Amino acid sequence: MTRLFDARAEPAAIAFAAEVIRQGGLVAFPTETVYGLGANAFDADAVARVFSAKQRLLSDPLIVHVDLDGALSGARLTLAGLVEKQVLGKLSARQEALACKLAQSFWPGPLTLVLPRGERIPPIVTAGQDTVAVRMPNHAIAQALIQRSGVPIAAPSANRFGHVSPTTAQHVLDDLAGRIDVVLDGGATPIGIESTVLDLTVDPPALLRPGGLIRAAIEAVIGPLRDQPGHAGGVSAADETRPQPSPGLLNRHYAPRAELRVARTTAELIETRRALMARGLSVGALITDAQQADCAGLSPAFVLGHDLESVARNLYAGLRAMDSAGVDVILVSAVEAQGLGEAIADRLRRGSAIASQD
Ligand code: TXA
Ligand code: MG
Repeated sequence: MTRLFDARAEPAAIAFAAEVIRQGGLVAFPTETVYGLGANAFDADAVARVFSAKQRLLSDPLIVHVDLDGALSGARLTLAGLVEKQVLGKLSARQEALACKLAQSFWPGPLTLVLPRGERIPPIVTAGQDTVAVRMPNHAIAQALIQRSGVPIAAPSANRFGHVSPTTAQHVLDDLAGRIDVVLDGGATPIGIESTVLDLTVDPPALLRPGGLIRAAIEAVIGPLRDQPGHAGGVSAADETRPQPSPGLLNRHYAPRAELRVARTTAELIETRRALMARGLSVGALITDAQQADCAGLSPAFVLGHDLESVARNLYAGLRAMDSAGVDVILVSAVEAQGLGEAIADRLRRGSAIASQD
């Protein structure tokens, strides 16, 4: 049975959930990006339950969520603490310098750093790799849960594998009710799209997944990043430190059940809808405030908002709403891959990839 608590109204729920984590159970909790499905990162059996609850492939590593380490202040001490606790392995001087700068600038926040794995992190967390992804979430409930449990928390997004990430407690229940122990409801997540994943084990660091922290903010602190593997303009095959694509970055990830189609313009969206409906298909649309006048009378439609921040915040709720409405096809307009648009465009591309590319 899954127990749902409103963690905002019932602070005691966090102590209860922390005990569940310590006992090897599974707790879904809000972060500033999306809801995570957490287990004690030091407990291989607990982490194995995360994979089976989500039906996630064991080849797809998890992010380890850490806290500010109580009284320790300053990113240098925090990172040293993670090495000391054997969450992280020994860092090179360069890795340490970069990680410190980034942690100081962006933690707590939507930035995940890939670094050498420490001895206490069992291989199941990292899909057998000798690197581990860590981040410090910027959310009071997540931080309290990690602190109260007294262990780092391994957590993927709290959805069924391959499905859209959850941005509300109800989304978590829709995917995982009966399969996990506790859901802590902290309301809708403020960013709504997953964290940016940055690999610091290659030089220059590689952006493995664009996310809630924009590329330009990172580059302002540590200089130019290597492009994502496989992107045009990426590194050459001869480069020995060429990063592997992030294992979780499959095509047709972050996908709704309906077919997602990305239109270049509002006119194309309206025309595509007409053509699909003429073929007897039911069609829903995700539209921005600016498109509302042109798309008047178009139903079902879900309004994403007026700027990139609101589009990111509302995108997954919109995809899930259209799935609930039972449409065959969801139409959405393309977003320019700039700033937060890079992560949104990435998710739209993955969500609309053809299923045969699984
Ligand atoms: O915002 C987020 O990142 C959310 C919240 C809950 O923190 N978590 C999340 O987790 O999106 P998940 O498991 O859905 O995505 C984790 C991503 C995957 O693309 C995975 O491949 C990558 O991080 N990753 C994890 N460990 C890695 C490693 N050692 N090397 C490279 N990529 C890694
Ligand atoms: Mg996920």
